[in-house]
Amino acid sequence: MITSDISLVKDQLEKGEVVGIPTETVYGLAANIYDEQAIAKIFSTKGRPNTNPLIVHVKSMDQARTLVSYFPPKATLLAERFWPGSLTLILPKSDLISDAITAQQSTVAIRMPNHSVILHLLESLDFPLAAPSANPYNRISPTCAAHVEDYFPQISILEGGNCEAGVESTILSFDGDEVVLLRHGAISIEQIEEVVGRILDRTSSESLHLAPGRSKKHYSPLCELIISYEPLFMLSAVQQKKVAILWFKEVKIDSPKVAINHILSPSGNFKEAGANMYDALHQLEKSGVELIIVERLPNYNLGRTINDRFERAAAK
Ligand code: TXA
Ligand code: MG
Repeated sequence: MITSDISLVKDQLEKGEVVGIPTETVYGLAANIYDEQAIAKIFSTKGRPNTNPLIVHVKSMDQARTLVSYFPPKATLLAERFWPGSLTLILPKSDLISDAITAQQSTVAIRMPNHSVILHLLESLDFPLAAPSANPYNRISPTCAAHVEDYFPQISILEGGNCEAGVESTILSFDGDEVVLLRHGAISIEQIEEVVGRILDRTSSESLHLAPGRSKKHYSPLCELIISYEPLFMLSAVQQKKVAILWFKEVKIDSPKVAINHILSPSGNFKEAGANMYDALHQLEKSGVELIIVERLPNYNLGRTINDRFERAAAK
């Protein structure tokens, strides 16, 4: 059920239920961080292995400080610059954080989301919210309440409109004085480097153990998906398929072999493309095409994040 009633959702969370919540990135599947059964319900609802830790959503920097044993100076700078916002910080956890949330790791992932509805909800609660994205394990992330309802009709979902960023938060960890990128996200490397200088990119699969959930295959539609700078070239190689092409800003070829041409951002704007990316995949998945060919974006700023998601959606 989709609802705009914050107090109803608050009641359910206080009773140990799992609920759908909006954030500016994607919708989450949320529960009270201090209720172990509710946390277990997140994992079972999502079908997520319990070796994959959850992000804790806080209402303030002060609340975040209670959940960590140490806030490195560069983490403080970044939180001051980007919170509330789409940046998740991996920090050493305090005793308030259970092993179920961190999958036995000594660190916890924390962010303060930037969405008025979830901030009102967090203000009304005595506890922070653990929430992974509200999609079954490895499926396409949800960017509106209806996407969540399609996946989980049994839960209450707090209405928050379409997610403004439409891609998940950027995840950073701290290794001595180094800032380490673990997941590309809605805040670009370029924006982060403006604040703390050069950062290390450990988003590739060789360093997967650092964030167990960043599996190579992720965010995938049920049909096949390939990504290329040259969709036309790819098209020439495919036979007898119902094909869709997902273009960045314009249709570069219109062939009878293509059942659907879908454009991410007619003005060629990365932010708009990011906001539309998952919804485009949801629509194309529902359309019954057998293959989606995605045009690769220029690989900088948010273009890099969007390419990352399509690469994982394409992974076998
Ligand atoms: O934008 C977002 O981050 C959304 C919204 C709902 O906030 N949440 C989200 O959560 O994307 P999820 O669970 O789908 O992805 C969180 C990622 C996972 O890959 C997980 O492995 C990683 O964060 N993670 C969580 N805790 C970690 C930790 N202590 N160390 C390393 N990685 C961690
Ligand atoms: Mg996710």
